[in-house]
Amino acid sequence: MAPRHFLELRDLDAATLRAILAVAARIKHAQAGRRRPLHPGRPLAGRVLGLMMEKPSTRTRVSFEVAMLQLGGEVIVLSPRDTQLGRGESIADTARVLSRFLDALVLRTDDTAKLAALVAHSSIPVINGLTARSHPTQILADILTFEEHRGPIAGQIVAWCGDGNNMARSWIEAAPRFGFTLNLATPAALAPDPAVIDWARAQGGSIIVAGNAREAVRGARCVVTDTWVSMSDDPAADRGAILSPYRVDAGLMAQAAADALFMHCLPAHRGEEVTDAVIDGPWSVVFDEAENRLHAQKGLLAWVLGGDDWTTIGDIAA
Ligand code: CP
Ligand code: NVA
Repeated sequence: MAPRHFLELRDLDAATLRAILAVAARIKHAQAGRRRPLHPGRPLAGRVLGLMMEKPSTRTRVSFEVAMLQLGGEVIVLSPRDTQLGRGESIADTARVLSRFLDALVLRTDDTAKLAALVAHSSIPVINGLTARSHPTQILADILTFEEHRGPIAGQIVAWCGDGNNMARSWIEAAPRFGFTLNLATPAALAPDPAVIDWARAQGGSIIVAGNAREAVRGARCVVTDTWVSMSDDPAADRGAILSPYRVDAGLMAQAAADALFMHCLPAHRGEEVTDAVIDGPWSVVFDEAENRLHAQKGLLAWVLGGDDWTTIGDIAA
């Protein structure tokens, strides 16, 4: 069987994405409150996931590690410092070698070409753990979170306010797959790649480029933002002048649907893209969203590593 790479949301059809979330939800409920892996529910026993993290990570790294442990598998974290990649060994040779040891690999890197090279030379599945371009594993958790709080996301309006960054791109790709309308409010200079919007529309997605943040949030059941300076950006960049009109504050949330949620992949820069009143306020589900990284990773790992019967991993504690 060809390796099941998870590189971009667009690569998977809606039914597969839905099935991943359904398995995630079943495992979440089965393992609710448990701190230890279930026995005999160790469906990934003997499987080893490599985490290649070229950039910092709290949620992605820890959620993948805990997800593997709770499903009976193991994880090896590989930072560039610890491998010969840091001394110039090629990604192709590294991929060939790691494919002999590991069952799957997660890569977090700025460099999309590196992810592509890893895929090209790996015989094991590769998961995009964030690039400068996209962050698809985050979206799985985000959809799970919305639907836990508000029911099906299909037909709803989600508003993105802020930088047209990697998270924005993954939300755009999610729109046609999950059937929601995405209203985008970004400064023109930081707008997402028009090609991804064209792709989403060609797939039947409803993507609306709004004139400003207030317009974008009108009718939205979910308002989403992210840092103004991503890991792939110049850390000295000061984008406050162009992004401050997109800050999510209580006044902006008041323009959204009465029961609108606020989501943010975290880490947040309080007082910049979002105020304390919003992130700590009644709209915010950001910590449920963070927790759901763990549950979503389990659904994803089931699909990536579980073979033909992968959905039965959702039955582990039944
Ligand atoms: N949201 C997210 O991916 O967080 P980390 O950078 O901590 O992994
Ligand atoms: N857009 C952010 C997301 C962090 C999880 C970044 O790339 O730094």
